[in-house]
Amino acid sequence: MFRTHTNGELTVQNLDQNVTLSGWVQTIRDKGFMMWIDLRDRYGITQLVFDADRSSKELFESASKLGREFVIQIEGKVIERQSKNQKIPTGEIEILVEKLTILNASETPPFSIEDQTDGGEELRMKYRYLDIRRNPVKDKLIFRHKMAQKVRNYLSDQDFIEVETPVLIKSTPEGARDFVVPSRMNPGQFYALPQSPQTFKQLLMIGGMDRYFQIVKCFRDEDLRADRQPEFTQIDCEMAFVEQEDVLEIFEGMTATLLKDIAGKEFGKFPRMTFADAMQKYGNDKPDIRFGMEFVEVNDLVKGKDFKIFDDAELVVGINVEGCAEYTRKQIDELIDWVKRPQIGANGMIWIKFQNDGVVTSSVNKFYNEEDLKKITEKFGAKAGDLIFLMSGNENKVRTQLSALRMELGNRLGLRNPKEFAPLWVIDFPLLEWDEETNRYHAMHHPFTSPKPEDVHLLETDPGKARANAYDLILNGNEIGGGSVRIFDKDLQAKMFNLLGFTKEDAEAQFGFLMNAFQYGAPPHAGLALGFDRLVAILDGNEVIRDYIAFPKNNSGRDVMIDAPSSIAEEQLDELALRLNLKG
Ligand code: AMO
Repeated sequence: MFRTHTNGELTVQNLDQNVTLSGWVQTIRDKGFMMWIDLRDRYGITQLVFDADRSSKELFESASKLGREFVIQIEGKVIERQSKNQKIPTGEIEILVEKLTILNASETPPFSIEDQTDGGEELRMKYRYLDIRRNPVKDKLIFRHKMAQKVRNYLSDQDFIEVETPVLIKSTPEGARDFVVPSRMNPGQFYALPQSPQTFKQLLMIGGMDRYFQIVKCFRDEDLRADRQPEFTQIDCEMAFVEQEDVLEIFEGMTATLLKDIAGKEFGKFPRMTFADAMQKYGNDKPDIRFGMEFVEVNDLVKGKDFKIFDDAELVVGINVEGCAEYTRKQIDELIDWVKRPQIGANGMIWIKFQNDGVVTSSVNKFYNEEDLKKITEKFGAKAGDLIFLMSGNENKVRTQLSALRMELGNRLGLRNPKEFAPLWVIDFPLLEWDEETNRYHAMHHPFTSPKPEDVHLLETDPGKARANAYDLILNGNEIGGGSVRIFDKDLQAKMFNLLGFTKEDAEAQFGFLMNAFQYGAPPHAGLALGFDRLVAILDGNEVIRDYIAFPKNNSGRDVMIDAPSSIAEEQLDELALRLNLKG
């Protein structure tokens, strides 16, 4: 038996017991005549003591050979500590070691395996297995496990069945690039890894499964960001004989259950906002509603005063930053430079200060007198002490730029408390979005999304105006999930493919299987998928999903630990008929 207890378990209740423990040597304090070792495992740390007076000479000598991260087993007696550590559960005891076995020696680790480590990101990724020994990483994986467990329980209780869908499939149109896998048995042909199990879950509805879920890996070859990994996990769901409302209710319930567990309070009904409102009020389809600074449009108040920039602009819109009228010139200039960076791309920004003494002044005093400015502050509902920023230009661009500024100010002013949660449904997304580059429509969600019944007629006349029964779940300004009511009528689905620029033959080649299935009694169905990595990270007060994935990829999509992707042997290339293709 390697151990009688774990290293997080023993307390004064166990005094005088003889125990066997195993684990890694975290720290060694050697005072010559006494030696203390912190022994670590997943459960915690237990202090071991070797005492020259009380231990045999051999034991003391073999202890002095130990190094950091050695794997050892000890036998000894639980005794009370002289100087107690109230910070850890085992802090009142230590083990007087009687027998020591070195199970495995260790090289000196390349970084210290402590909560605060000296290891840089790349190094820790290379030695991820060592990083996982550290509490901050380990705790995140445990947190993830607990969330997965709760999700499975919740959905199982609601009659959802977890069904596994294949990983070697045909391309799914979720909008990113596919990862492809060459088929040896079918030379020159490729599988695609699923960007999501979308078509399969719809087929499961046709198969009568009624309520499906899966905690499932998805693969998307897209540029990486803090909230994106090339392989990530979805809580994927689909339901038959339901409408949008039924889906929202179930997943609101699920999210509220997780949130209650973490935040310790009831969340009730989640607020809802239409896509159109989200864009108008926040310039963003995933607004962080933990703080205000809602957009106010002022075209009516600023035009016709000879200020050419505003006169020429499609939209003049701003935000009121409460209590910031005291910002210095330098602070404001720095923010103006911030919005002018290429990533944001604004041409500039106008400010209006409602000073504490009641005077209203601005960077455009030449064009607007105090009365003009006061009308603007009134429209914003600003008070003495507030600072207004105005931006102008092309409607869509300026909203996006102002949205970036709003989020930046939210961060700088500490208005985005990671322990405060603000879920939100964004609904009524447009069905289609026009792509200037390819000069055609794309499905805003995916091609299986149903238009709102009352907007179906627009498909003939003005497709860009049609809204979809599609919804996103937003948490603290992050898109946690999305879904839609699906088309279940073959003719409507064919019309949709047509609008998206598929020829009949293309649609048949890519989605013939689904269109076929629609002929055999497809029930009305709807569903959604939550990004599990994102959900877990945000629930844990973080926005970087990498930390919640045991073996993540870096920003170039590489696993630096196993060194993937990598080239493959010539023979493999031949076997997969790839060399021919590459040359040909
Ligand atoms: P969608 O494409 O919106 O919908 O994806 C659902 C959720 O998955 C998460 N997500 C990601 N997380 C990490 N890294 C990525 N690269 C990544 N891409 C997406 C997001 C997103 O909201 N089949 C549909 C769902 C449906 O209609 O039922 C789908 O995949 O949190």
